[in-house]
Amino acid sequence: AFAQSKLVVNTLQEESTINKHIYGHFAEHLGRNIYGGIWVGPDSSVPNEDGYRLDVMQALIDLEIPNLRWPGGCFADEYHWTDGIGDPADRPKMVNTHWGGVTEDNSFGTHEFLNFVNKINTEAYITGNVGSGSVEEMSKWIEYINFDGVSPMAELRKKNGQEEPWNLTYWGVGNESWGCGGNMTPEYYANEYRRYATYARDYGGNKLYKIAGGANNWDLNWTEVLMKTIPLEMMDGLSLHYYTVTGSWENKGSATDFDKEEYLETLNKAAVMDDLIAKHSQIMDKYDPEKKVGLIIDEWGTWFKVEPGTNPGFLYQQNTMRDAHVAAITLNIFNKHADRVHMANLAQTVNVLQAIILTSEDDMILTPTYHVFDLYKPHKDAKLLPHFLATEKVVFGEQSIEALQVSTSKSEDGTINISIANVHPDKKIEIDVDLIGMNATKAEAAMVSAPQIDSYNTFEDKDVVKKEAFKDFKLNKNSLKVTAPANSVIMIQVK
Ligand code: AHR
Repeated sequence: AFAQSKLVVNTLQEESTINKHIYGHFAEHLGRNIYGGIWVGPDSSVPNEDGYRLDVMQALIDLEIPNLRWPGGCFADEYHWTDGIGDPADRPKMVNTHWGGVTEDNSFGTHEFLNFVNKINTEAYITGNVGSGSVEEMSKWIEYINFDGVSPMAELRKKNGQEEPWNLTYWGVGNESWGCGGNMTPEYYANEYRRYATYARDYGGNKLYKIAGGANNWDLNWTEVLMKTIPLEMMDGLSLHYYTVTGSWENKGSATDFDKEEYLETLNKAAVMDDLIAKHSQIMDKYDPEKKVGLIIDEWGTWFKVEPGTNPGFLYQQNTMRDAHVAAITLNIFNKHADRVHMANLAQTVNVLQAIILTSEDDMILTPTYHVFDLYKPHKDAKLLPHFLATEKVVFGEQSIEALQVSTSKSEDGTINISIANVHPDKKIEIDVDLIGMNATKAEAAMVSAPQIDSYNTFEDKDVVKKEAFKDFKLNKNSLKVTAPANSVIMIQVK
């Protein structure tokens, strides 16, 4: 039997900075994400400020999210931005063909999004339409948002009530252009990217960070062709999408009803992210050895069957402690690859896929995934530290995984941040931690845990899974003894 786990952290060997943008989010016009989730309109009985739900807004402010991607997803390549500006009463309606065939009334458009981003103190990441749009349409959108002089688009923006430009930085050139974004070949898209990016202009001192629409999962050829065809100076980021699908794409597992073997299957599928990033990075390294181009994982997370009785096109699913572990494992992996992964966006913020927030009319719950993002705040913009871990495996049926999943970093003030997920459903694990080069005087810790791996928060019981103080550790200068409870995610900060 495995007596004790061992973690060795070299606190003197600072590696890449963990870009805070790795902790980004994504809100598409999909299901009840924007409408009902973020936006209820100024006349709603749901408490709101200028149409934005107060509860959701506050939860996002508290989480200090670094960026928010919008308007899609697949929706982005069917979206025509001019439909979403001006008097809401005059805005044309459209069909949201991808997501339930519902009518999109365009009441949430460019102004509503960018003003929301300002209210929640985050940064916008907008994905432009390549699939069904035009170069002219995209370039005018950027002019409308960012130009501070006299021009038709700047005048139109002012007429619509926004005097100052928004100075947006993050710009995506299409989404999933290999699929819902136009079914293009990589060669065709790479050339289209060069054309669109040419007219995605910088205005004033504002420099756009341009992100090319990248590969799906293991489509390494897509990454190869784009890296080969697009000059490095034309692209700041290249995206990658990967979802954790339990079972098969056609027959996905349930979000709440699973056994321990299926639980481990989910965690293993999330852990694939490590190898996936390594393989795509290897290709990027050939063309960009200095790692100037960021790998932008702008869609990731669990994708289960929708909650029974809900619209299949709305992708509404519950979020259990299993999702918390998926978040912890994935964020640890992103940290590990901080030299190449410069940004990531969890899909999706409210009421869609691995949501951090769920709403029901005027009520709201924070999911276990929200609490992990909250717990991981200290990793943002910290320096990655290397570590060595020896631990036991947890095994059920055909599936097994390392029981402890760890990431270590150092904040600017010298604080050492250690995130540890004990994914074992029923075994607490003792860990001996060596902190090489440390002469610590104090430590504090917090934890997200739950009675069961399938525990989740409901509108009746909102705190089944929550963040709380964690005290089961002992510090002695350069060593720590930690007892990680079964089914928990912990963040220990040592000073
Ligand atoms: O996040 C849901 C969908 O998944 C997005 O719209 C699309 O980009 C991806 O296929």
